[in-house]
Amino acid sequence: MSLDHPLNDLSHVVSADRAHVWHHLSQHKQYETTDPRVFVEGKGMRLWDATGREYLDGVSGGVWTVNVGYGRTSIADAIRDQLVKLNYYAGAAGTVPGALFAERLIQKMPGMARVYYSNSGSEANEKVYKMVRQIAARHHGGRKWKILYRDRDYHGTTLGTLATSGQDQRAMQYGPYPDGFVRVPHCLEYRAQWEVENYGERAADAIEEVILREGPDSVGAIVLEPVTAGGGVITPPEGYWPRVQEICRKYDILLHIDEVVCGLGRTGTWFGYQHYGIEPDFVTMAKGVASGYAAISCTVTTERVFEMFKDDAADPMGYFRDISTFGGCTAGPVAALENMRIIEDEGLLENTAAMGARVLANLRALQEKHSVIGNVRGKGLFCGAELVADRATKEPLDERKVQAVVADCLAQGVIIGATNRSLPGFNNTLCLSPALIATSDDIDRITDAIDGALSRVVG
Ligand SMILES: Cc1ncc(COP(=O)(O)O)c(C=O)c1O
Repeated sequence: MSLDHPLNDLSHVVSADRAHVWHHLSQHKQYETTDPRVFVEGKGMRLWDATGREYLDGVSGGVWTVNVGYGRTSIADAIRDQLVKLNYYAGAAGTVPGALFAERLIQKMPGMARVYYSNSGSEANEKVYKMVRQIAARHHGGRKWKILYRDRDYHGTTLGTLATSGQDQRAMQYGPYPDGFVRVPHCLEYRAQWEVENYGERAADAIEEVILREGPDSVGAIVLEPVTAGGGVITPPEGYWPRVQEICRKYDILLHIDEVVCGLGRTGTWFGYQHYGIEPDFVTMAKGVASGYAAISCTVTTERVFEMFKDDAADPMGYFRDISTFGGCTAGPVAALENMRIIEDEGLLENTAAMGARVLANLRALQEKHSVIGNVRGKGLFCGAELVADRATKEPLDERKVQAVVADCLAQGVIIGATNRSLPGFNNTLCLSPALIATSDDIDRITDAIDGALSRVVG
């Protein structure tokens, strides 16, 4: 790049951003008096902004995406080599990286068989909803068209996926929504909805109650996050998943696991569902599949589901008549192949399990010190601390204070997250999702920042 290239003038970049970019999930009034933060460079878990300031990124690119860390030249090289050979062909044909990544992925997912490519988590989930609807139309005489989703879970930003938003603040003001999407209760035991000993089974039984109320004949599928991410880091209580699986089998309901956050290593196994012995019919994934080096999402199904779309070759309407233009980009699968190689060769699943245990231990130690930490939860490198104004009543901490904790960490050069515009009254959980390459020092620095922030903000 020549020295007078406009990209070298960062003050111009910041003012161009301020003048023309509409940032996601942002109230822009603030940028009338302050500059938006513009990131310029990343290496490992470190980021630098346009003012030259360094940050330790505890959230893998803001929304839990850059699993193998920034600055991976081997992924960039693989993408570049592929792009000059063949950048694109629509998904009606195959490409070399598309075929090879599908094969590698299926090797990590016993019981699964087919990969459908698109390019965002929302889109991957919408594909499932369309498949379920088409199965209902073709195989159940129009019945079994309803899809269940869970309170506090999130599945995307499109109108279809927002119809399955268990986070009311994400969906408010964007309706009306399509019919046939029905909510089931969440399974967060800390916010218990039933006074029972076997909470996991009871929370799963609540799904059965909804199925019986709606009529089992009308319900085709249920979509669930293996560990609820943005809805407050909810790890399932003991006994929950076996019972969910049992209920799905009992009523012939297809089980769709949304691995958009947990997918590819985040929880210390390739997929979150693999901790719980779940046998899904659909698995969707996006963020960590190529760590944000290229856009890619996958809708993965079993051969049984796939067969339902090719059982009548004489029916011109009988196959999955869906298209995703950018599902044919080769950058996604070639980046995903290299991303997977890195996770394997660098032992990042093992590191995630070890570092995740360290995050939880550190947060639990902070809980001893700060009564504002009501509950600590997590799996692998997706962890959270729910903040409360009063431990006894569990009254959530005012979300302005929660955001002040996040801002204090940022001022210390450490980026953490918190549930944000998701759950009315319950945007009170700090979220940590460092890259899978995190070291003990990185983890300690993040939790030390939280320690300092809690002392200053809450006292
Ligand atoms: C669990 C889950 N599913 C789906 C999505 C939507 O993914 P995307 O933003 O790529 O459309 C998200 C995004 O945060 C998510 O957390």
